[in-house]
Amino acid sequence: MTSLLKSLFLRNSSVHWHLLQRVATRSNTTTNTFNTAVEAAEKLVQPTKEKSFNDPFSIVSHEMSSLAKLIASLIGSGHSTLNRVSSYYFEAEGKNVRPLVVLLLSKALLNIPAEERNRIRIDSQDVTDQPVYPGTPQGTVLAGNSVNQLISPLAVLHGINPKVILDPLLKPMDHLPQMDAANGILPKQRRLAEIVEMIHTASLLHDDVIDLSDARRGRPSGNIAFTNKMAVLAGDFLLGRASVAIARLRNPEVIELLSTTIANLVEGEFMQLKNTVISSDESINNDGEIKDVPKPTGKVPVEQHNYRVEKPQGVDHEVNVDAAFEYYLHKTYLKTASLMSKLSRAAAVLSGAQDDIIENCYEYGRNLGLCFQVVDDMLDYTSSNSAIGKPSQADLKLGLATAPILFAWREEPKLGELIARKFAEPGDVDIARRAVDRYGGLEKTRAMAQDYCTRALTNLRKLPESDARSALEFLTNSVLTRTK
Ligand code: FPP
Ligand code: MG
Repeated sequence: MTSLLKSLFLRNSSVHWHLLQRVATRSNTTTNTFNTAVEAAEKLVQPTKEKSFNDPFSIVSHEMSSLAKLIASLIGSGHSTLNRVSSYYFEAEGKNVRPLVVLLLSKALLNIPAEERNRIRIDSQDVTDQPVYPGTPQGTVLAGNSVNQLISPLAVLHGINPKVILDPLLKPMDHLPQMDAANGILPKQRRLAEIVEMIHTASLLHDDVIDLSDARRGRPSGNIAFTNKMAVLAGDFLLGRASVAIARLRNPEVIELLSTTIANLVEGEFMQLKNTVISSDESINNDGEIKDVPKPTGKVPVEQHNYRVEKPQGVDHEVNVDAAFEYYLHKTYLKTASLMSKLSRAAAVLSGAQDDIIENCYEYGRNLGLCFQVVDDMLDYTSSNSAIGKPSQADLKLGLATAPILFAWREEPKLGELIARKFAEPGDVDIARRAVDRYGGLEKTRAMAQDYCTRALTNLRKLPESDARSALEFLTNSVLTRTK
């Protein structure tokens, strides 16, 4: 009994009490036995000294618990309001999937024999030959401090406001090197975890402005709490600070990867604005030239998007739907899987692993990212606002055609008209929702996510067996089964 309960708890820490009840009832227990089972279960969920290998947080809990604090040390400025806005989303608990993947993957890669991790020189050796300018801290560069070491002269970075500490990255983080050394995660990989969360958070600040959102992480979203303008600027600021930190990783390959993710996020968002492969932008002619640039009015435009979807003449329905799926998946890669795949690749590059491992880590992140977003698109149909801490059922209202409605469209060609007009007419959203139910759009979407999850697990199995790999497997399965 205890081992069954234990395996239940370890397999899914959010297991519900009713499940316990079922376990107890099925084994013909009395109320007394049930109470014993509950007590045993309670003991199991108490933190113990023993490491639970299936809990992804436990392996890197040290690093994860200081993540927010370390990010805060990267985004301080001399402007109190800017500080408030740019730290706003870090104050509320997010899923932190991206930094978790960086840290666990970094740890999993440590199980590759050291002599096979020689693609790059690791850490202090590749930093000591960097230029040292007058006014910068001199002496031996510790591995843990190298990510804080500036590259340009301090006077240049400080610019015209020398009173303000413009370089929070220069603050010593004495406690870091030893801790990292103990865990095997390199300081650069650790900084990578912070950087990717900063990029992700910047994109959320901007996304909430674009999506006219009013809530995130159970609180008013940044645009509501501080205005659109401040939310946009805070997002830009986070990107600026992330870029400085990226440069100080001093690895051109990683700089290229991370900078590309920022561009990809924007490209993905642009594709989402256009929404489907058969859309045509009214302001762009057939040669792709801008026909008519609107005159600035100084007023906020009432219409959110200015795109029109045309039904192509003489195109086979199946071909059309296939093209829409291709477009959707490309958009999904750019919007979500690009960051996940490139951060996984960057963690592998920084570990010094060989090309085939780097490629496999990239594929893992890609499959995980696609799974993550496809599940997100499914949850948008199934969850309540309170469950996910942000507005649910928003996609159709925003005119977005994601996997569930595309699956329904394959069965019901007439839905193309609704997709084309972005569900803008009264009743369109309800018709679309009913069609999704009728044609099993959610089940098919789940199957699609499951397929990406399976592929991601296959990628993981190409890494040496370890606790960190098990934790990544657990995390990957949780991305599929999550409810928020
Ligand atoms: C959430 O999507 C948004 C993203 C995954 C990316 C948004 C990207 C931009 C706004 C481009 C700008 C990028 C940067 C780096 C500043 P969602 O709306 O489907 O999810 P949600 O329900 O959480 O809002
Ligand atoms: Mg959004």
